[in-house]
Amino acid sequence: MATNRTFTMIKPEAVAKGYTGKITDMIIEAGFTIKAMKLKQLSKEAAGEFYAVHSERPFYGELVDYMSGGPIVAMILEKDNAVADFRALIGATDPAEAAEGTIRKAYATSKGENAVHGSDSDENAEIESNFHFSAEEIVG
Ligand code: CMP
Repeated sequence: MATNRTFTMIKPEAVAKGYTGKITDMIIEAGFTIKAMKLKQLSKEAAGEFYAVHSERPFYGELVDYMSGGPIVAMILEKDNAVADFRALIGATDPAEAAEGTIRKAYATSKGENAVHGSDSDENAEIESNFHFSAEEIVG
């Protein structure tokens, strides 16, 4: 995968509150192109595997329960400097620290229920994209 792509999930609380369209609008208005997109229910096993890097953290169990507690919307996004620009668009993990104009400032409720995920590196963007999408599901 080219390094101009990143991976995101709109998380269960944001999907349940009906924010999928508004968040997707913010993503498109910020200049990202959607290359793949699906609504998906994660099993506990899948959520645990996706967040395995955090398995030693005290919030891991809570994170897995939360991420498997309702549907998410997974997307692959394309833009120059995609990983860094998307992290800037979503804002800080803790919405109390997220800047004005960011997705988390607008739609997140807490550090755990923080509306969206964004890959933290090109390498993880590729791993996370491949976790959720087959090659046939990615456009272009
Ligand atoms: P995300 O970007 O999806 O990657 C790891 C997630 O762990 C993070 O967003 C948060 O949702 C979650 N997380 C990080 N820190 C905490 C915390 N202190 N308490 C609960 N969840 C957290």
